[in-house]
Amino acid sequence: MVLLTGGAGYIGSHTAVELINAGYDVVIADDLSNSEESVMERIGRITGKTPAFRRIDVADGAALEALFGEFEIDSVVHFAGFKAVGESVAQPIKYYRNNLDTTLTLLETMKRFGCRRVVFSSSATVYGEDNPSPYVEEMPEGRCTNPYGWTKFMVERIMTDAASADPEMSVVLLRYFNPLGAHESGLIGEKPNGIPNNLMPYITQVAAGIREKLSVFGNDYDTVDGTGVRDYIHVVDLAKGHVKALEYAEKNTGTEIFNLGTGRGTSVLEIVDAFERVNGVKIPYEFAPRRAGDIASFYADPSKAERVLGWRAEKTIDDMCRDSWRWQKGC
Ligand code: WQD
Repeated sequence: MVLLTGGAGYIGSHTAVELINAGYDVVIADDLSNSEESVMERIGRITGKTPAFRRIDVADGAALEALFGEFEIDSVVHFAGFKAVGESVAQPIKYYRNNLDTTLTLLETMKRFGCRRVVFSSSATVYGEDNPSPYVEEMPEGRCTNPYGWTKFMVERIMTDAASADPEMSVVLLRYFNPLGAHESGLIGEKPNGIPNNLMPYITQVAAGIREKLSVFGNDYDTVDGTGVRDYIHVVDLAKGHVKALEYAEKNTGTEIFNLGTGRGTSVLEIVDAFERVNGVKIPYEFAPRRAGDIASFYADPSKAERVLGWRAEKTIDDMCRDSWRWQKGC
């Protein structure tokens, strides 16, 4: 059985769907701090199989111990963690406490139960601001620009050290680029708390009339049209990358790192144009000053994941825009 910590969230729920579709038994542990229990039933509607669910905080050692006692868990995909960049700057201790505690408690409990396989939800943010794009896995990690990023950096370190100390352990670190989109059923997607920080949830809320207009942060970057460029990846492609990573972890020991991105950069205005064209809705926007901590452009070299895992992103920016809007309309 595969344990998904934080499996009720945006990327976790899509990964649950793909793991179930691939034949895995899944148990989800989530404290529902940024998700809802109704996601289980929705995963069930998509796959025909509702995953087991326990509402627990993964940093609660006794609760996690009981979970490992109840289910025969042979692999873990670790998503549980806080992820709002701005909030991490304002409340760094909360971020370090939560993201590190969950990881340490998880690794201790795994060790006690002889579970030695873990796939971690990391981020391209660990490349920092100084590495040039495309980012390749062999690059030295950079200086992260916020506490959220440092927690990803630290968890990568902790897991790598754990695997070095235990020759039977298998760790796969997945560095996500910018996930967008939703399941094409419209049943699961991203539900941000409050005012969205990320680009696509903001765009869909403007399209839905919840927000008046999009602020485009910076139009004087050295990019195709002056706006920021990112490597946007469809969340279903990303989720499928986890299935491949788990298959890899089942056959190998040690630590391996993979970028999950498309290798293509897209600007903010290109996203706005695609969204308007695909969905037939207008997105009013205005240019605003650059957002602190943003860099002009970054994108992946995804060739290692293709070579080693046999995985590559297949969906397009148009798919991401269509699926994000379908999800928002159903909310
Ligand atoms: C994308 C582009 C903005 C909002 C962040 C984290 C990263 C990862 C994903 C998550 C940038 C521009 C955005 C808006 C805008 N982690 N933008 N107006 O900053 O690349 O990555 O999310 O768990 O670690 O840093 O993504 O979606 O916020 O921004 O113009 O209202 O859109 O400036 O160029 P980012 P994003």
